[in-house]
Amino acid sequence: MKLTMRRYWIVAILGLVWAQDGKALFQANCASCHAVNRRVVGPALKGAHERWGGDEAEMVKFIQNSQAYINGNFKNSAYAKKLYEEYNKAVMTAFTALSEAEIKSILSYIKSESQAAASAAATPAGGGSGGASASAEGGSGGTGPILWILVISLGAISIALIISTMALSRILRPVEESAAPKPSTAERLWSVVSSRKFLGVVSLLVLVWLTSATVKKARSIGLHKGYQPVQPIAFSHKTHAGEYKIACQYCHIGVEKGKSATIPSTNICMNCHNYIQEGSKYGTKEIGKILASWQEGKPIEWVRIHNLPDFVYFNHAQHVKVGGIACQTCHGPVQEMEEVYQYSDLSMGWCINCHRQTKVDLTANPYYARLHDQLKEKEVTVERIGGLECSKCHY
Ligand code: HEC
Ligand code: HEC
Ligand code: HEC
Ligand code: HEC
Ligand code: HEC
Ligand code: HEC
Repeated sequence: MKLTMRRYWIVAILGLVWAQDGKALFQANCASCHAVNRRVVGPALKGAHERWGGDEAEMVKFIQNSQAYINGNFKNSAYAKKLYEEYNKAVMTAFTALSEAEIKSILSYIKSESQAAASAAATPAGGGSGGASASAEGGSGGTGPILWILVISLGAISIALIISTMALSRILRPVEESAAPKPSTAERLWSVVSSRKFLGVVSLLVLVWLTSATVKKARSIGLHKGYQPVQPIAFSHKTHAGEYKIACQYCHIGVEKGKSATIPSTNICMNCHNYIQEGSKYGTKEIGKILASWQEGKPIEWVRIHNLPDFVYFNHAQHVKVGGIACQTCHGPVQEMEEVYQYSDLSMGWCINCHRQTKVDLTANPYYARLHDQLKEKEVTVERIGGLECSKCHY
């Protein structure tokens, strides 16, 4: 009796683990085109099992290579072909790398989600959109770090003041003890605070702090770290690049080819928003603006965030393609940003520091093969290949 109970538990837990696994696989491979309860690029997968006559083996074949299935002579090829035409011949990616077991775990996740949705629909409640959860996290990333720096530097200044007060009182103590026999602590503190030495040290500290603050301020003229303007459409990198894992290059098409990364044109948005016309957060309000821009042929007027002065030359392809540097090294965790903000200060010091420290991969790049032979060192920084020469960055 006990034993069978235990067996049930084990089976249940294993089932849960199985479904969890399926969820992760679904998120990684399918979520860019599918949701369970709602049409995305492909159909809503709720009830897919019923549409396929409960035949998971056929579904697996379809998922592994949908085009072969549609054009082949399988049990449900006619249905698949009809569906393909209904979806304007949008080709579903082939998943030959996924094993049958992995696809079955995805399918059991889809099944359990469908059932959960069905029982949720039975209870009277609005929405029922499920899928993408819209966490309402304000984009406060820009101001956070600055506030912290202020708090920490103020803290450091007060600690410095306390330490110097203590040191001074220790220096002054013997003199006072000989002058007045028994001064109270309050009197002693006052005499310390009002002494010339103490005032001198304090004004020196204030002066040093003011100067460094002014220099810092002057240096950062034209720099906009943390800059986060309001954009014409509530476009979220967190949704697109984070949740749906759309590659940065899919939208920023220039990034491996040229100087500019480029901001995507409405066409690129329409690849998906031709089908996805309703969002889970704003309904048709925000996506409607894309459709309007497309119909009227008017580009969306995005507000530029990063902007180097005109006298500086910066090339994305050189850094991303040749240098192999990840976007996040310079732009921060964009895939987590609801709204993008400027992560690095883009100062000359920032460029130079990285060029001093970063080693160039000479072996992986045929461009440097000749240079490599001429150099004696094993490791070469960007500085060594001329990355600190004024004319490389200035016109
Ligand atoms: C690039 C987008 C894309 C990706 C990624 C994708 N699909 Fe699809 N899927 C589609 C489209 C589009 C269709 C509609 C049929 C067609 O056009 O071939 C479809 C159809 C289906 C169907 C049939 C649905 C029905 O209603 O009968 C199933 C099941 C399915 N996909 C499962 C998956 C699974 C599982 C994954 C992940 C391993 C996946 N798809 C990944 C685009 C995609
Ligand atoms: C679905 C399309 C899309 C994807 C995918 C995407 N972006 Fe963007 N990106 C945009 C749009 C649209 C803007 C302009 C609006 C804005 O600033 O939010 C933008 C703006 C930016 C900006 C600020 C540009 C400026 O004005 O200075 C950076 C930096 C950026 N993206 C980096 C990334 C990175 C890194 C990734 C990948 C992790 C990524 N993007 C993925 C569409 C996309
Ligand atoms: C590869 C497909 C794809 C591309 C390209 C794409 N999107 Fe999206 N977008 C999605 C998906 C998926 C969602 C999530 C839908 C949801 O919220 O349920 C979404 C959601 C949105 C939303 C949120 C709507 C809401 O109410 O929650 C906006 C706004 C949006 N996209 C704007 C854009 C803009 C602007 C572009 C072009 C720069 C773009 N998208 C390009 C797939 C795409
Ligand atoms: C070595 C640092 C660095 C890396 C790596 C980098 N960027 Fe940039 N990015 C910059 C700088 C600097 C600017 C400002 C350029 C200017 O004003 O001319 C910028 C500007 C942008 C812009 C807005 C202006 C434009 O060029 O169209 C976008 C979008 C962008 N980057 C996206 C990306 C994406 C996506 C990646 C990764 C594929 C990436 N960046 C990798 C430093 C970097
Ligand atoms: C995160 C590190 C990093 C940052 C930040 C960075 N760079 Fe670079 N840069 C590199 C690397 C790595 C290379 C070498 C790429 C290669 O050719 O292999 C490079 C190469 C260059 C080159 C070509 C140098 C040569 O001798 O051919 C120029 C020009 C340049 N960067 C300009 C800039 C400017 C301007 C900025 C600041 C706005 C900047 N870089 C910020 C890493 C960086
Ligand atoms: C790796 C790239 C890089 C190199 C090398 C470089 N600069 Fe700069 N420089 C910049 C950037 C980026 C800015 C803009 C910073 C800003 O917006 O304030 C800048 C700004 C300046 C300015 C404007 C004042 C300021 O500080 O804002 C002067 C002057 C200048 N550089 C001189 C030089 C000289 C002289 C050299 C050679 C010894 C040199 N730069 C080498 C990237 C570089």
